[in-house]
Amino acid sequence: MGKIVIGSGDWVFVLTGAGISAESGLPTFRASDGLWAGHRVEDVCTPEALELNPALVWQFYSERRAQGAKADPNPAHIALTELEAKLGDRFFLCTQNVDDLHERAGSKRLVHMHGELAKSRCEDECGQPPVTDRAVYTSLDEVGRCACGARLRPHIVFFGEIPLEMERIQREIGRATLMVVVGTSGSVYPAANYVQWARQGGARTVYVGPEPPLNAHAFTNVVEGKAGEVLPGLFVVET
Ligand code: APR
Ligand code: ZN
Repeated sequence: MGKIVIGSGDWVFVLTGAGISAESGLPTFRASDGLWAGHRVEDVCTPEALELNPALVWQFYSERRAQGAKADPNPAHIALTELEAKLGDRFFLCTQNVDDLHERAGSKRLVHMHGELAKSRCEDECGQPPVTDRAVYTSLDEVGRCACGARLRPHIVFFGEIPLEMERIQREIGRATLMVVVGTSGSVYPAANYVQWARQGGARTVYVGPEPPLNAHAFTNVVEGKAGEVLPGLFVVET
């Protein structure tokens, strides 16, 4: 397996997806056929579902909170923490994952573009910031309320909603000279377009995962393998 050499002038942007948490025991979306309790995941993770059946939406995210609490970071998460320690501000991590395994591994320069499982926010978007909430609710009556009185919703970007931190993400991609994408099928936008944005800026682009993603053609290099096995030995950082 070839190494990725990172020089002193390189700025690294990493994008991760569900695949990086697979070896921590968290199932990916497409591996489970995108189904949960007989529902298409896309039917549970929408603003419409929250409106029509908030109990179902909260049941889904409560289960995922319970599952996430049992998982631990794996060698792939740790390899990214170690890379950040070497690169400092020349490292940036954008994850599509809502689990907190990156921060539990020690990542600092990190954004969750699709939100965070461990937070909730006002359903009415009244302007109150998201609150830490790891509760596993067994009924809708237990779900907390915002200061304004509205019910809390998961701090998750549903299908059809705009991802978080897009300005910062665009800025970071704009200065990246190397993009590393790990464990994402390349089927959800805008994240699936990041590789194109990086290439337009002249960056090298590397994909790591057991199979080529849908947008594999856009990468300069596809490294086939599990993230936890590939990432720990992939980077050589020149000083
Ligand atoms: N290491 C690396 N990659 C892996 C591993 C592994 N051990 N196991 C599986 N993968 C890869 C699969 O090959 C697949 O390409 O992880 C990818 C998982 O793809 P998806 O399930 O589609 O997950 P992701 O791309 O993160 O989904 C994007 O879709 O449902 C929405 O908002 C949700 O953030 C999510 C978005
Ligand atoms: Zn409110």
